[in-house]
Amino acid sequence: MNPIRSMLVAPAIALALWAVTAQANTDEAIAERIKPVGQVCIAGQQCQGVEAVATAAAGAARSADDIIAKHCTACHTSGLLGAPKIGDTAAWKERADHQGGLDGILAAAINGINAMPPKGTCGDCSDDELRAAIQKMSGL
Ligand code: HEC
Repeated sequence: MNPIRSMLVAPAIALALWAVTAQANTDEAIAERIKPVGQVCIAGQQCQGVEAVATAAAGAARSADDIIAKHCTACHTSGLLGAPKIGDTAAWKERADHQGGLDGILAAAINGINAMPPKGTCGDCSDDELRAAIQKMSGL
């Protein structure tokens, strides 16, 4: 191979490899985005989400602690983006006093308020579960 050609080939290979990797990443990301929200489970077979379905069917609600740990601590432990901190009852009370009490801040939590995402990212939380989580975090 003449020197000029090999100078061109090496970067071309690098570029091709980069393109393949980039494509693989994108495919994965797309698969993640378009994966079905619900999955059909067939009796006797392993499938994802069975536990959640079984729990829901049995009527066993998640505890407030479970929900907080999974969905709320990310922001409410550190007070990220101005979120009222867990255990800072005064801060929560201040909000509740100005927004129609616990029901008022529950409504805001359900709909989302400023940087607080709707349902605090717990899309499948019931209103009662959210209320329990808020009571636990606020001490109200
Ligand atoms: C992505 C960060 C984030 C997550 C996750 C999050 N929150 Fe919040 N939350 C906030 C922020 C920021 C505020 C303050 C919003 C404001 O008043 O500007 C807030 C405020 C609230 C309020 C007060 C609303 C009001 O009317 O003042 C409640 C109640 C609340 N969050 C409940 C929850 C619950 C319950 C969860 C978990 C299920 C949760 N949040 C998860 C960021 C978050």
